[in-house]
Amino acid sequence: MSAEPGGVTAVAHANIALVKYWGKRDSTLILPATSSVSLTLDAFRTTTHVELLDAPAGRDEVVLDGEPLAGAALTKVLAFLHLVRSQASRTATAQAARVTSTNEVPTGAGLASSASAFAALAGAAATAYGLELGRRDLSRLARRGSGSASRSVYGGFVVWHAGDLADPAAGDLTSYAEPLPTAPELDVAMAVAVLDAGPKKIGSREAMAATVATSPYFPAWTEHTEADAAEAADAIAAGDLPRLGEIAEASAMRMHATMLAARPAVRYLAASSLAVLDAVADLRAAGVGAWATMDAGPNVKVLCEGADLDVVAAGLRGIVLPGGGAPHVLLARPGPGLRIE
Ligand code: PMV
Repeated sequence: MSAEPGGVTAVAHANIALVKYWGKRDSTLILPATSSVSLTLDAFRTTTHVELLDAPAGRDEVVLDGEPLAGAALTKVLAFLHLVRSQASRTATAQAARVTSTNEVPTGAGLASSASAFAALAGAAATAYGLELGRRDLSRLARRGSGSASRSVYGGFVVWHAGDLADPAAGDLTSYAEPLPTAPELDVAMAVAVLDAGPKKIGSREAMAATVATSPYFPAWTEHTEADAAEAADAIAAGDLPRLGEIAEASAMRMHATMLAARPAVRYLAASSLAVLDAVADLRAAGVGAWATMDAGPNVKVLCEGADLDVVAAGLRGIVLPGGGAPHVLLARPGPGLRIE
């Protein structure tokens, strides 16, 4: 018996952290060392369909962008389906699932899609297995797939709370994301400078673990990030983009500083990234409000006012990169939260 004839489709959008999540205090429950703050974007999204099969659990099928998923990515999805089944109590929990997922991220963008992917999977799988979860619990569930996915459950500006630090069980209940009160006049946009990533670097999960284990700067990072998250929330509520931009750029640089201090260093910054960071500083010197942020890769995302997006994009397209050529620039505006169709 299929729980949801025809299955369930969910759509979630990517988010970019303005105050970064970097480092876990519990890697099984995916509890972060600190709170983080993000902006969900309209431009990059994942659509995921989950259908229950007349086959025993253990025969799950996962197809991403038309290809069967394999390797470590498949292992993560299967573990997530197992978690959803363990939380559901009806007979359908013995059934396997067919997961079909499509990422709408411009080709070659080199942008991580794990946030939109696990938010969409959480929504579709929980519904297919009959779990009736509110947004907060969907956010907690998505967190178990990929930490940043907890934030893609909501649109616009979002905080993911570190939660109760005293013990993991309490932390699991209290580490969720929620939307941030936002000044109505705060009109933001993001230009993404896509750079040649070269050979694929270490993934965020492994890189975070290396940073936590070996970077002497990690305690300083956690100490300052909690205050940054609170200040970013204040700036968003007050509609103060320059303050938010300053916090965001500092948080990204501090995150990269803490991983550069790992042994061996974790380095995502490329020569081309530095060229974009210089261009962003030049835009600011010319009076344009633009602030850079970077994640676990060389690409640079630039936060600005909606009205300045074209001038910021033109500035980025005018960069001559160290290897020659200019960055490919993608444009994004705030996007919506998880939707079950
Ligand atoms: O959730 P993960 O494991 O994809 O980690 C995301 C880490 C960063 O993108 C670098 C920062 C963040 O807060 O999204």
